[in-house]
Amino acid sequence: MKTVAVVGTQWGDEGKGKIVDMLAADADVIVRFQGGNNAAHTLVVGGKKFVLRLVPAGALHPGKACVIGNGLVVNPLALLGEIADLKRSGHLADDSLLKLSYEAHMVMPYHLAIDRAREARLGKRAIGTTGFGIGPAYEDKMARVGMRFEDLLDFKFFEEKLRRNIVEKNAYLKAMLKAKPIKADETVDAMKKARRRLLPYLCDTGAFVSEAIDSGKRVLFEGAHGTMLDIDHGTYPYVTSSNCVASAVFSGTGIGPGNLEAVLGISKGYTTRVGAGPFPSEFTGHLADSLREEGDEFGSATGRPRRIGWFDAVLARYTARVNGMWALALTKLDVLTGIDPVRICVGYIVKGKRYDDMPPSHRMLINAKPIFEEIPGWSESPAGALTLAELPSGVRRYVERISELVGVPIAMIGVGKEREATIVVRNPFAD
Ligand code: IMP
Repeated sequence: MKTVAVVGTQWGDEGKGKIVDMLAADADVIVRFQGGNNAAHTLVVGGKKFVLRLVPAGALHPGKACVIGNGLVVNPLALLGEIADLKRSGHLADDSLLKLSYEAHMVMPYHLAIDRAREARLGKRAIGTTGFGIGPAYEDKMARVGMRFEDLLDFKFFEEKLRRNIVEKNAYLKAMLKAKPIKADETVDAMKKARRRLLPYLCDTGAFVSEAIDSGKRVLFEGAHGTMLDIDHGTYPYVTSSNCVASAVFSGTGIGPGNLEAVLGISKGYTTRVGAGPFPSEFTGHLADSLREEGDEFGSATGRPRRIGWFDAVLARYTARVNGMWALALTKLDVLTGIDPVRICVGYIVKGKRYDDMPPSHRMLINAKPIFEEIPGWSESPAGALTLAELPSGVRRYVERISELVGVPIAMIGVGKEREATIVVRNPFAD
């Protein structure tokens, strides 16, 4: 297959970065299609850790085109910082390989200020956003007052629009949120300086990706966050503000549905979540703490400790459906070594009624009691295994049971942090 999307099937942080980085070796073009720098894709290459937030993970492979599609909201200064970091570490040497959509929206300082002030005012009811202004930027996109990268072509127009927005946002910040206003001159000056550095990356990315597909190139679409954080299909309102499911590939890049051949879902061998919201298979206590340490489960974007839960097969079946999943990649199985038994959530009890599939309303998840199946654990670490046959039998049994419960084949199994520590059962680009 030549066009493959990778999506998260939980609440983000599934280990997509590593899988995308690995698949990027076989791709010609790597495309982000939604979200912003609330995403943080962590990769370990040659013992060095990289965290990419906006630039597609393909940037760590020389010669690959990396596309930031129209579906993103991009903090321009954060993007320039990330590009500079990549260049300092010897990556992204050729600027012509990074393509930024004219139609992508910008995250402006007032978006960050509004995001943070709203969360502070919500107190206990806060969503637990990353505080990077993502929700307010998507609001402006829909309200048709967003700043798009194409606006930079005519700086006079850009400045007028920006100042108009700042007046309106400052009134809202002061009157409603009791927060400090944004300094207009400072913001305009920063954007004037950034403009010269941003313009060379601007591109008609829809046409670029379409042409790549038409000419037989391999294109990898890199999803961010996870299906349960999707604005429509996730645990609303405890979600992010974009569509994170595979169908967002089309609206977020400008290609049609017939152009996508496979969707690979990524899931951890257990579950994590940062921020507030329902999480039926969550557990706390000593085991959760040690798993958090072992799995380094601290938010890559914010450093917050992640909540910990067992693998949830009900969620996984649901996310397989909404994404039209071809196969699943399971990550971080090495982290479960030594835990006995391991549990899988196979159903919920809500108000006395059993649900084997996702209840009709996500609000019902707030009171859902998990039904667990216990599987014998394994004491021998799978780290270092290169094939299915080399996996400890306990891990194999666990993986097979997950595949059976979710109803999709397992394409990859992650057994460590490094790029190489992944057993590839099926490579979508080789199918
Ligand atoms: P926002 O995207 O910053 O508005 O945050 C909304 C919710 O999505 C919060 O619970 C965040 O913690 C969560 N979130 C956003 N992006 C990610 C991600 O990449 N991984 C995990 N959680 C995320």
